[in-house]
Parts: sequence; C-alpha cells; structure tokens
Amino acid sequence: MKINTSEFIISAVKREQYPVDNRVELAFVGRSNVGKSSIINAITNRRKLVKVSQTPGKTRLINFFLINNDFYMVDLPGYGYAKVSKKEKASWGNTVETYLTGREQLKRVVLLVDCRHKPTGDDILMYNWIKHFGYDVIVIGTKSDKLSRMNLMKSQKVIKDTLKLTSEDKLYFFSSLNKEGRDELIDLIFDDVVE
Ligand code: GTP
Ligand code: MG
Repeated sequence: MKINTSEFIISAVKREQYPVDNRVELAFVGRSNVGKSSIINAITNRRKLVKVSQTPGKTRLINFFLINNDFYMVDLPGYGYAKVSKKEKASWGNTVETYLTGREQLKRVVLLVDCRHKPTGDDILMYNWIKHFGYDVIVIGTKSDKLSRMNLMKSQKVIKDTLKLTSEDKLYFFSSLNKEGRDELIDLIFDDVVE
C-alpha cells in the first residue's frame, strides 16, 4: 500500500463530532508519550501533520486524519499519565472509551508499547480489550532506535511474556525517528482493512 495524501480533518470529543461518512478507521492506542502521534507522522511521511511533544499528555482530543481520501487514521489521547488531575484523567478516559466502543467503522486498533519498558497494567488491559472485541492484535514496540539489537531481542521476550501474546498476535519494532522498515509497518497495519 502507498500513502499518497494525508490531511487533518477534525478534532473531536463527542460522537457527534466524528466524521459522518462510513470510511474505515484505524486507531493507535497506548500510554502517553509512547509515540502514537509520531507514528502517524512517520507513516504519512509528514513531519508536522500531527503535533508531537516531549511532555506526556500532548494529545487530548481524538484527531482524525484522512488518508488517500479513502480511510482515517485516528490519533487518541494516551493513558497512564500521572500528572493530570483525576477529573481530567476521567474525562480523557471517557473520550477514548466512547470512541473505541461501538464505532462500527473502526476496523483496527494498533497497540503501541515503548520497547524500553515492560508493558504496564494499563497495556495489559488494553491488550485484553482489543482481543475481547475481536480485533487482530498488532503490537508495535516503539522507539526501537533507543535499543541495541540484543536489547531489542530481550524486549521482544518481555513484551511477549507480559502481554501473553499468542502465536496469531503480531509484534513489530519501529522507530519513528529513523523509520527503518516503514514499508513493512505499513503493510502490517493496513493489511486486510484497506485496499
Ligand atoms: P500523547 O499524545 O501524550 O499520548 O503522546 P504520544 O503517544 O502521541 O507521543 P508523541 O508522538 O507525542 O511522542 C512523545 C515523545 O517521544 C516525543 O518527544 C517524540 O519525539 C518522541 N518519540 C516518538 N517516537 C519516537 C521514536 O521512534 N524514537 C525516539 N527516539 N523518540 C520518539
Ligand atoms: Mg499524541
């Protein structure tokens, strides 16, 4: 698959604000700061399509990006960021949950985990949620430029064991910085859901 065009469409909180067409949607989920927004920039080969920040909690709304005028990539707020108030956490949680549940055109939920850290309890919950709702599991170990080949092997085992990945589940390492293996990543993510 080739990404030809990408454009920001809308930031949404409530259902009424989501795009109203029936195009397929793919969403990226994971902890705050794991690299969800960055991977959308890497996939689309755009440096500033999506706003990225070193400070966790950058993405607070649901952002829809229209790709090839054909489908949407959806950037979600991250979970697990300690430094926001309980109220704010609950409101982001609600925003994400409202989107993820009962969105018919959502065909893929890609789980991102930082390859340097053991997946957290929240990551395990998210993994189980993805399984429960019958989505294929695609886990991306992000920021792979930060680890040596040997440590990536170790990380692979830690992620597999912690999330209890099965043989059908896919795990792929990626760096949005050097974008090595971008074509394979694109094939993996869009396989079966978009032409
Ligand atoms: P929230 O919006 O807060 O949920 O975060 P996010 O998951 O969207 O993360 P974001 O893409 O904003 O990236 C967070 C930080 O990690 C930024 O400083 C990025 O530059 C950095 N980052 C993202 N991907 C990579 C990567 O592959 N390698 C390296 N070295 N840094 C990365
Ligand atoms: Mg973000």
